[in-house]
Amino acid sequence: MDGTVTPNSSHMLWHNTRLATLEGKGWGMIDDGALITDGARIVWVGRHKDLPDAMTQDIDESHDLGGLLVTPGLIDCHTHLVYGGHRSDEFELRLQGATYESISRAGGGIRSTVAATRASSEQLLFERAMQCACVLMREGVTTLEIKSGYGLSLADEARCLRVARRLGESLPVSVRTTFLGAHAVPTEFDGRADEYIAAVCDWIPALAAEGLVDAVDAFCDTTAFTASQVQRVFEAARAHGLPVKLHAEQRVGSGGAALAASFDALSCDHLEYLDDNGIAAMKASGSVAVLIPTAYYFLRESQMPPVSALRRAGVPIAVATDHNPGSSPGLSLLLAANMACTLFGLKPLEAVQAITVHAARALGMHDRGRLVAGQRADFAAWDLDHPNELAYWMSGVRAQRVIVGGTERS
Ligand code: NIG
Ligand code: FE
Repeated sequence: MDGTVTPNSSHMLWHNTRLATLEGKGWGMIDDGALITDGARIVWVGRHKDLPDAMTQDIDESHDLGGLLVTPGLIDCHTHLVYGGHRSDEFELRLQGATYESISRAGGGIRSTVAATRASSEQLLFERAMQCACVLMREGVTTLEIKSGYGLSLADEARCLRVARRLGESLPVSVRTTFLGAHAVPTEFDGRADEYIAAVCDWIPALAAEGLVDAVDAFCDTTAFTASQVQRVFEAARAHGLPVKLHAEQRVGSGGAALAASFDALSCDHLEYLDDNGIAAMKASGSVAVLIPTAYYFLRESQMPPVSALRRAGVPIAVATDHNPGSSPGLSLLLAANMACTLFGLKPLEAVQAITVHAARALGMHDRGRLVAGQRADFAAWDLDHPNELAYWMSGVRAQRVIVGGTERS
């Protein structure tokens, strides 16, 4: 599957399948289902026997899906895939009692990955990120968000974003890039966080002009930036027409989610310490709550995000891997969905919506995440009896076949 795609033709019929369309409030199951794609789009979905005659005559190619279950392609809406090195030493320190915060304050944490990233060639960064992306793709991921944030200089952030863009051009997966310059204060700005924020704001036009930025993110935390510093970054993003997202309320409540919502953030991510005010603000702005159970697990946190309150308020919930070397060194979106159920109490249906339709919304992409006419033809075929198994198995599930933009990955 790595890299090559088979050629596409115009009208294709995909039949002999059970569809979990995720249209409406439930699974949207269609037994004996069929899909018609026209190039990169789905143009018809339904029971095979209901396929209109006029459509049948137009079909150029027919694909038998062998009775497999088909779902929308999976969407990992929060990753930090481009970085150098690893932090297994910090993992050991934390197991001996050190905290994420104490390691960060001692100059480790994000800063140690920044040093390793700056020391890596662009080609090495690309090859490592490519390996990670391929692992995610084996589980049926067809859209992937990649943040910068381990460069923290204009040149290094641009390098990481270029690597992310190149991945999207080299692999059969859609890549959305997010500029996360406000991830940590780099050593050369030690004690000068406000000056660093001014620099980050200054870099936005250059990065945007190079087409490297689909959204702007920041880390609002005691180890990173205050809400008022984040606000300056968001103002610069808005001035350049870029949507924002925020790492918010992960280890402390900081009011970041409400601030992000006031900028119509696409999403607020983590949210363990989100309060009612933040939930109301997110509901009003339509921001998606992106939960990261793998980081909660890996940092051995105990404060759970307010899932029931989010549900009651009707805030859409997404789940992502947050793949990064510090707090979530994993590469399974399905395990993240499983953990969202076991650790945070999501129902399997909610967990699958969280890695498809709601994840799409967290990226501001309304053309994917469900199997309905008009959506992009991104779908995955599974050797499973029921789609709830996507959140049930802890490992070992692979997509049997993956179709991206109407073309099957080989
Ligand atoms: O999403 N919270 C900020 N960023 C990452 C952690 C980054 C790191 O520790 O390297 C996260 O958890
Ligand atoms: Fe993150």
